[in-house]
Amino acid sequence: MTSTKRTLDASNYDTDKAAHTHYLRNYEEYFRPLLDRDVRLLELGVLKGGSLLLWRDYFERGLIAGLDLNPAPIEDPTGRIRLYQGGQQDTALLDRIARECAPEGFDVIIDDCSHVGELARVSFWHLFENHLKPGGLYVIEDWGTGYWDFWPDGVRYRPRRTTRGPLRYRLSRVATRLHNSRLGRLPLAGNLTRFAKRALQRGLYATHDYGMVGFVKELVDEMGMGDITHPEFGVAPRRRSKFRELRLSHGHLFVVKA
Ligand SMILES: C[S@@+](CC[C@H](N)C(=O)[O-])C[C@H]1O[C@@H](n2cnc3c(N)ncnc32)[C@H](O)[C@@H]1O
Repeated sequence: MTSTKRTLDASNYDTDKAAHTHYLRNYEEYFRPLLDRDVRLLELGVLKGGSLLLWRDYFERGLIAGLDLNPAPIEDPTGRIRLYQGGQQDTALLDRIARECAPEGFDVIIDDCSHVGELARVSFWHLFENHLKPGGLYVIEDWGTGYWDFWPDGVRYRPRRTTRGPLRYRLSRVATRLHNSRLGRLPLAGNLTRFAKRALQRGLYATHDYGMVGFVKELVDEMGMGDITHPEFGVAPRRRSKFRELRLSHGHLFVVKA
């Protein structure tokens, strides 16, 4: 079988990825160009180890590292799987894994671990900044836990009551016109119009920022960094987003590092 025909079929592996067919479709789309490379992949959250075996068999030249709080009961005669025990938020352990498995950086990092925003955030920024190659993929699974009441940091979605309407929009347009006028360039007036716009726009969208969902929205801000720090109307210092791409689908998120 030639590598271009190799497909990501999880049906014979003990992993919940087998049930999420769109996860597998997404993985296949992003992973296909890496198929024959010496891929370095780290998965946070291993459970029974089924997904590590899946990645090992898919990336025939790859080295697969896995981290979990608990030991995983798998055998790997190929020696291409490395298992580590500990918490995803333990940055010293993450450094050790990277040093031992991917001194040049990982090509792919998958977080299928605690699904708790605060913990996912620690491992994301640490691994993204220090141990993911440029052009590398960082994948987060099951970010929708932030909408679940039974999850440690999840909260059920409640649509916000918003006061929309033509008056609010008209006032906001007036404030924008003032802000863009010569008057708005005076420091005090500029601050006042900005404050007015912020107050008029606040709470206009029914947004939810608990748990993993809040963390995902932080990632949206990073994707918007080019506008946030725009030289004429942004906040200094100017910088590009660290992300080349941020793609969201149901429960599944891909960041491509710039
Ligand atoms: C959804 S399961 C992983 C499934 C596996 N990736 C697969 O596809 O078969 C989540 C795993 O994360 C582990 N886990 C939960 N919180 C963790 C943490 N803070 N650090 C490391 N592992 C954690 C759990 O022990 C569990 O095995």
